Amino acid sequence: MHIGTTLTNCIIETQRNIKSATGEFTGLLNDISVACKKISDLVDKGDLIDVLGSAESENVQGETQKKLDIISNEVFISALSQNGHVAGLASEEMDEVINLPEGAVRGHYLVLFDPLDGSSNIDVNVSVGTIFSILRAPEGVANPRAEDFLQPGTRQVAAGYCLYGPSTMMVLTTGQGVKMFTLDKDIGEFMMTKGEASIPEDTQEFAINMSNSRFWEAPVKRYIDECLAGKDGERGKDFNMRWVASMVAEVHRILQRGGVFMYPLDSKTMAKGQEGKLRLMYEANPMSFIIEQAGGAATTGRERIMDIDPQGIHQRVPVVLGAKNEVERVTRYHSEG
Ligand code: AHG
Ligand code: MN
Ligand code: MN
Repeated sequence: MHIGTTLTNCIIETQRNIKSATGEFTGLLNDISVACKKISDLVDKGDLIDVLGSAESENVQGETQKKLDIISNEVFISALSQNGHVAGLASEEMDEVINLPEGAVRGHYLVLFDPLDGSSNIDVNVSVGTIFSILRAPEGVANPRAEDFLQPGTRQVAAGYCLYGPSTMMVLTTGQGVKMFTLDKDIGEFMMTKGEASIPEDTQEFAINMSNSRFWEAPVKRYIDECLAGKDGERGKDFNMRWVASMVAEVHRILQRGGVFMYPLDSKTMAKGQEGKLRLMYEANPMSFIIEQAGGAATTGRERIMDIDPQGIHQRVPVVLGAKNEVERVTRYHSEG
């Protein structure tokens, strides 16, 4: 009987090619996969175990937390801080970076994560996910500070997400393409189901929250208007639209069948003093790494996301990602004003 390749097999194989590898990275990815399996199980059980609904608390960004935002955050912290593979953690749900307890064994990696992305969808039983970005910790730092995490996306060692949809899927890049794994819940293993994801350069599908259109800048309005004009307009072809409101689900769709996703700068978020909606360190950077590794592109409309010099753990940025030619077009429209 053919068994196939597990996520663990794949990571061990990646480490085999690195002479100095100690197994720590394999251990870290294993910790992440355990956390995601646990979250997947909680999402599956939902109302049966009373994990849905609001926690009636706010995170550092002033967003109301769902019970599962808090529980997933705890699961991730617990799974990642007890095995000596990380030096520190940072989470969407935590104001400050997380240091390990005194005496705990420290590893060489920093992990930034969004424990539950798209959590507004959790109560309506629509796909949610977990996003993570892995960086190297500075040498000899036992308790990394926020500054140590503020590295540009180009320095990511690995990035991935786990999608809790009809199937639970882990999608991972270590800088050598993008691989997809589907959780076989009977045996508790993520099995490789796609060895090389690739995004077509062109598309006829876009994803944007249209209800924000009156707040957009002119270049974004121009791009979307041209898409909506379809065959009769500038583009000479009809476009389809999707908006799940879970970035993980949108990125997954783009990896599977192409498309472009945008959460651009808008005057609504600017009025709150924010440069966009999505967070650079644990949403935009890891997703950009994955998208670029699959042959797509990711910019703010003005610059490559992974080149941004980060200023804060919870910094927000505009995001335009997916099909290369579409992202280049949107970016050109911004440069033309
Ligand atoms: P989170 O649930 O982690 O706060 O992230 C939600 C994000 C992202 O997943 C999604 O693309 C976007 O917010 C949805 O925004 P709208 O509610 O404006 O549609
Ligand atoms: Mn999110
Ligand atoms: Mn979240």
